[in-house]
Amino acid sequence: MKILVAEPLAAAGVELLKAQPGWDVVISNPKEYAQHLGDADALFVRSAVKVNADVLAKAPKLRVIGRAGVGVDNVDLPAATAANVLVMNTPGGNAVAVAEHTLGFMLCMARSIPQATESTKSGKWEKKKFMGSELRGKTLGILGLGYIGQEVAKRARGFEMKIVARDPFVNPKIAADLGVSLVTLDELYAQSDYITLHVGITKETNKMLNDAAFAKMKTGVRIVNCARGELIDDAALVRAIQSGKVAGASIDVFETEPPPAGDPLLAQETVLATPHIGGSTGEAQEIVGVRIVEQVVEYLQRGVAVNAVNAVAAGK
Ligand code: MLT
Repeated sequence: MKILVAEPLAAAGVELLKAQPGWDVVISNPKEYAQHLGDADALFVRSAVKVNADVLAKAPKLRVIGRAGVGVDNVDLPAATAANVLVMNTPGGNAVAVAEHTLGFMLCMARSIPQATESTKSGKWEKKKFMGSELRGKTLGILGLGYIGQEVAKRARGFEMKIVARDPFVNPKIAADLGVSLVTLDELYAQSDYITLHVGITKETNKMLNDAAFAKMKTGVRIVNCARGELIDDAALVRAIQSGKVAGASIDVFETEPPPAGDPLLAQETVLATPHIGGSTGEAQEIVGVRIVEQVVEYLQRGVAVNAVNAVAAGK
């Protein structure tokens, strides 16, 4: 059995793979992995490798793709299904990491920590300029109350925020237990001082934060996106920032990663940006790395599919 690891995977996960009798484990990288696809039975990726029909055509023996993380938008699921390749992910494994990054962004925006750091390091002492505001008493709107949204809610409660959420699929008891009021999208836009996105990309969510959505928000709202770049119409966000509707935005994810040089969004002073590192903590990578390996081992050894995001016919 040949196992191809195309992106960094936690050492404990790699050890577990190597411990499987008769498994040949090839550790590669996004630039070179394709040359090993020909006889690979399993492929491990994070988000850099884009698995499309061309990639799958080069891997006739492939039975399973393990995504160490949540989003599977880098894998063409219909093409994988057509090729009879099972795709698995690790929902929840990096939820705390992403939630902490979200809260970090909110605190940074409330207190202008990155801008104040830059100013102070440059020799200035701009105490008046950096008057901040508190999270306490503000309303946080969470779009998507799944694993990550729930972890965000738990932490925001610690900051004494009022929390509203929009999620048509969540069990209302989960929301109630977290002290979160479920509201409509328009109510969320109208009430929130901070809005954070924790949904996947679908027809409904693609570019959901657009001119019409920003128009419904409070003046001075702050936005956090640690989910996917496609959820925001960037040109609309720039307009909303320039008009003063949006007081700040924190962006970890981009439609094109890395974003092109001269991206107008990054030129805005009140925009904070990080390079898709929401889930990048040692702890989270250990969890998702070990978990995805355990799932793939379980599938290849015993045919048990855990956290599969597509369905395939048995027998490849
Ligand atoms: C995820 O989908 O798990 C996060 O965006 C982090 C990552 O891409 O690895």
